[in-house]
Amino acid sequence: MTTAEMFENKGKFDAFVLTGESNRYYFTRCSTSFGAVVITPEIRVFITDFRYESEAREKVSDFEIVVTTFAELYGKIAETLKKAGAKTVGYEQSMSVGEFALFKAALKEFKLKPADDVIESKRAIKTEEEIGFIVSAQRIAERALQKAVTGLKPGMTERELMAEINYEMIKGGADKYSFETITAFGANSAQPHHHPSDKKLEKDELILVDMGAMFNGYCSDMTRTFCLGDPGEELTRVYETVKSAQAYAIKHIKAGMTCNDADALAREYITANGYGSHFGHSFGHGVGIDIHETPRVGQGSDFVLQPNMVITAEPGIYIPGLGGVRIEDMLVVGEDGVTDITEYDKKLSI
Ligand code: GLY
Ligand code: MN
Repeated sequence: MTTAEMFENKGKFDAFVLTGESNRYYFTRCSTSFGAVVITPEIRVFITDFRYESEAREKVSDFEIVVTTFAELYGKIAETLKKAGAKTVGYEQSMSVGEFALFKAALKEFKLKPADDVIESKRAIKTEEEIGFIVSAQRIAERALQKAVTGLKPGMTERELMAEINYEMIKGGADKYSFETITAFGANSAQPHHHPSDKKLEKDELILVDMGAMFNGYCSDMTRTFCLGDPGEELTRVYETVKSAQAYAIKHIKAGMTCNDADALAREYITANGYGSHFGHSFGHGVGIDIHETPRVGQGSDFVLQPNMVITAEPGIYIPGLGGVRIEDMLVVGEDGVTDITEYDKKLSI
């Protein structure tokens, strides 16, 4: 969807006011902690403050730059909309209750309508440039994990492994991590979002790593589960089930399918193998400027996959007290199938 098409969509909006950090970055490619973007069919205004003025003037050539203060932001938005002759204004619902109260008071002469679906649908379909950033982020993450596991040995703690991975990502070119890296050893891996602790690694324990790098403002997301040694018969069976469920789903997902049906591919495979009740989260999610963005690839979502969406494929099976396995790749959706942009190997024993 082009910016012009945002206005055709249901013919509902004269203007969009984007106040969230991710949407500001999406339109301006300038990373700011405050401000707003105002877009109408005729004007594009980037409202920022003193801290970002020179960067905005240097980088953001296709927007008029307006510099304001915290106290005057909403007044400046109203002034800009008035000048543009807008009546129906789309806004994003990520504002806090307090911010929305100020926003509503300043914009009381306009008809305000949530516009999240328009913006999210636009952001869900990536350009070639955006896909390139995500692939670069993923390569940084893969090199970091390769380096970090070189030093892996029994006695190392979850916290130490997390620190190694983070260090290697930043040294390798990441702007920052896409989210707090998860490292979980042994039974801790049964908690899908375990918080890394001082637990020491023992031989033959599962090691689950969920990590992502950010590059040029775009996230990567990958989970690998492996073992220094042999995790035993049951966890090996769990591992093979997750790996096959993921491979089956990757083979069959394509544009035109609903997210519910994409989720069902891996879920039905896991259920047929007796572990359905141990797969308690969604199959995947969109990835981009935010680590979790539209679409949610899970049960009950009738959102239809379209070419150039980037989604994760991350089935998992978690057995309390024993351990958990999740394997996560990123996929670019195409008409006839998907391209898996994750290259890191899926060996259980390393
Ligand atoms: N990789 C973190 C998550 O998708 O929840
Ligand atoms: Mn994920």
